[in-house]
Order: sequence, then structure tokens, then C-alpha cells
Amino acid sequence: MARRQGERISLPGLDETPVGPTGREKQDFADPEPLNSHGPARVIALCNQKGGVGKTTTTINLGAALASYGRRVLAIDFDPQGALSAGLGVPTHDVTTIYDLLLSSKVDPMDAVQQTSVEGLDVIPANIDLSAAEVHLVNEVAREQILTRVLRKLTPEYDVILIDCQPSLGILTVNALTAAHGVLIPLECEFFALRGVALLIETIDKVRDRLNPAIELDGILATMYDSRTLHSREVLERVVDAFGDRVLDTVVGRTVKFPDASVAGIPITEFAPEHPAAKAYLSVARELIQRGAVA
Ligand SMILES: Nc1ncnc2c1ncn2[C@@H]1O[C@H](COP(=O)(O)OP(=O)(O)OP(=O)(O)O)[C@@H](O)[C@H]1O
Ligand SMILES: [Mg+2]
Repeated sequence: MARRQGERISLPGLDETPVGPTGREKQDFADPEPLNSHGPARVIALCNQKGGVGKTTTTINLGAALASYGRRVLAIDFDPQGALSAGLGVPTHDVTTIYDLLLSSKVDPMDAVQQTSVEGLDVIPANIDLSAAEVHLVNEVAREQILTRVLRKLTPEYDVILIDCQPSLGILTVNALTAAHGVLIPLECEFFALRGVALLIETIDKVRDRLNPAIELDGILATMYDSRTLHSREVLERVVDAFGDRVLDTVVGRTVKFPDASVAGIPITEFAPEHPAAKAYLSVARELIQRGAVA
């Protein structure tokens, strides 16, 4: 449904206007049924080669939100910056990291799993060593499939595995796309956001053709949305024009609570559970479950 000129736009959780920020009818996604059994996991790569769009923030908070609905969640830090590991407050040195798992099939992937302060949310950390992976993997046989091999032993243990990709379309990201069942693209609501998405979707199409025929685009999640600015509203309108139903109904508003929660090393759903941004990520979790992207 196209948005009419001058129509009010609302931020989820803040008021009761029937039209959501995407211009579609505003939806409340029902609380999901609890799961009676667990696994095998659906693997979702959080991917956008543009930096600072909310990949890591979404991995942390969507992971925590899904865990709060009883899903067993594994988050994989796939960025040498290690921001996901830091944001979840786990150590990254003198521990087994994702790099060790990529390098040697002799390391048991379960040895790299760390629990977080959130029940049901585990993480495999990364540190700067992972930046050497690009060089090491270049000469490997089937170098795009190494993460797929690593995940084989982990999928039975979880309902969903979220991969926090680095801001590039290099060999690590291609590994993530090859191992994934679905891709979730966080998109910052600002003018240049759309530019890179065409290239990203082209890359996903290439991976589908050559490496992973089953990969699906699970959704585009608008982040850092500010309903008070015309700019944010216009960008979101263009994103919806371009990608239609692939844009999630739930959008995440811009708030300083995210940097605050990151410093504290815990998800916003724990740091400020009543905050609209915490509720937004709970809604993203319910929407993805309703769409069938997560069990
Ligand atoms: N909805 C939001 N409102 C305000 N700030 C946000 C929001 N989401 C994320 N941020 C902040 O924006 C910055 C970038 O977010 P984040 O690290 O999640 O992006 P990223 O895509 O993972 O970045 P990179 O490409 O560097 O890995 C962080 O400081 C984070 O706290
Ligand atoms: Mg990141």
C-alpha cells in the first residue's frame, strides 16, 4: 500500500497510528509459540558492505530477542574488529576464535562457543587474527565453503545461527553467504544507503548461481530511522519502493541507547527492556518468526 501525501508516520511502540513507517498497515506480530524441540539451525548472515549500518547491533539485539522467545541462538563474530564479541562482553584473547575454526578442521567448533549473560544466546568470538584469513584462505581448496564445514557440527545444537559480517564483500562475507540459508540486510535510513544495496544483491545472486542455490533474502531492516526528519521518511519510502515486501514492517529508531548498551556489553533488551528500541528488536524477532525465517 503506497503512503499518501502528508500521512502521519509513526515509530513502532510510540503511538497507535494504523499506518506503520513503511507506509503499510501497522502490524503487531503475535508472541511466537514456544518450541518443543531444538535444531537444526537456520543460518542467517547479517550483511551490508557499507560500514556502520547496524549489522552488529542487530546481531546482538535480534539474538537476545530470539533467545527471550526460547530460541537457542548462536551469534558468530565474523569481523576482525570483534565488535560483536565486545558488545556481548566476552573475551577474545587466549580463547578459541572463529579464525582457529576456519584454519583447522581438527579444532572442535564447540570449543569456541562461549555463553553470554543472556540465557539461550551463545557466541563464537573473533579478534584481529581473522584479518589474516583472507590471505590464508586464498590458496585453500573450496575456500568459499570453509565456514559451511565449520557450521556443520554447530547447526544441530541451535535454532538459529546469526553471522555478523564485516563491511566488505571479500572472501569472509562470501563464506558467510555460502553457509547461510538467508540474508538479513540492515540498512541505515540515510541518503547513500541505497547505493550499495544493488551491488550487495548482485553478490547474493552470484553466490546463488555458483555456490549456494538455496540462499534467500530474508529481509531488509531499516535502522537508525528518525520519524521526525523528512530525510529519514523519504529514504524509507524509496527503500520500500525499491524492495517492496522484502522490507520488514518493523523499523528500528535512532537512539543513543545503543552506544550506551554496547559500552555496558549487554543487549538493549536487557539494558533498557522498556525502551522503544528494545521493543523494536523484539518485534523484528517476532516478524522473522512469522515470516518463517526463524523457527
Ligand atoms: N538504531 C540506532 N540508533 C543509534 N545508534 C545506533 C543504532 N544502531 C546502531 N547504532 C550505533 O551505530 C554504530 C554502528 O553500528 P553497528 O556497529 O551495529 O554497525 P555495523 O554495520 O556493524 O558497523 P561495521 O560495518 O563497522 O561492522 C554503533 O556505534 C552503534 O552503537
Ligand atoms: Mg559490525
